[in-house]
Amino acid sequence: MTSENTCLPGMSACARQFTATVSQVRLLARDTWAVRIECPVLAETILPGQFFMIRPLSGSDPLLGRPFALYDVCRDAAGQPAAVEFAFVRIGKMTTLMSHWVAGQQVSLWGPLGNGFPVADCDHLLCVAGGIGQTPFLGVAKEALGLAEFGNPPRSTPVRPSRVTLCYGVRSRPWLAGLDDFRLPGLELEIATDDGSYGLHGYVTSLLKNHLQQKKSGVHVYCCGPEPMMKATAEICAEANVPCWLSLETPMACGFGACFSCVTRVRVGENEWDYRRTCVEGPVFRADQLLLVDH
Ligand code: FES
Repeated sequence: MTSENTCLPGMSACARQFTATVSQVRLLARDTWAVRIECPVLAETILPGQFFMIRPLSGSDPLLGRPFALYDVCRDAAGQPAAVEFAFVRIGKMTTLMSHWVAGQQVSLWGPLGNGFPVADCDHLLCVAGGIGQTPFLGVAKEALGLAEFGNPPRSTPVRPSRVTLCYGVRSRPWLAGLDDFRLPGLELEIATDDGSYGLHGYVTSLLKNHLQQKKSGVHVYCCGPEPMMKATAEICAEANVPCWLSLETPMACGFGACFSCVTRVRVGENEWDYRRTCVEGPVFRADQLLLVDH
């Protein structure tokens, strides 16, 4: 069951808070799960690259919600948006708690939040993902391939790419999450592993370089993953003069612009920069706007 409250203050008109129920938890890879939450209003409005905040409905630990990007929108028998699915890796207190969730778990969530990836209007969309950063690209790929629509009303996709490729890198084969989900008609799926246990032996950025050596014109790059990988991707795209968008995975406390815990630095002029809140002005930014730090 889902209960819907009023719009959150300061947020876009459709960001709301919900009480909802987990209907499915499935293992995607080592220490990696996908969780489905029945929430039709959120499912019909959220866009690929947007996220929502979530916390258990009861208890005060953890007190704050955590942000999770949309993995997929699940539809009912009539084809209507019925549930949202997100994916996570067990790395801390909240995700350890979540790894024990089963169907029936009651949660509080609020969203949709953030801007999401733009509609792909290019000839070849190259998605570059590292680790759990593959999450937003299931929806991105489905929309770009014409396999699903997102938003209410559905956002239009006037120019659909003739090619959509996901370059996906992880440390080792057991961490490859959701490969069956990504076996979509028309999606080119390329894998890299740090240890060579599956696909290319090396970093996912090598896959990106291979593509850009063959063709740059008409290519757009969307990227999500660890910040050093995104910085390398941004540099490769800048050198090739290829437009690139990054989805930042900045820690967040409130998710709706009130606490400034999520700021990142962006260029605002020649040799000038300012802060932007990732939760409301991102998480997706043009790579050439960002000032990414070296790690
Ligand atoms: Fe609070 Fe962004 S998370 S302002």
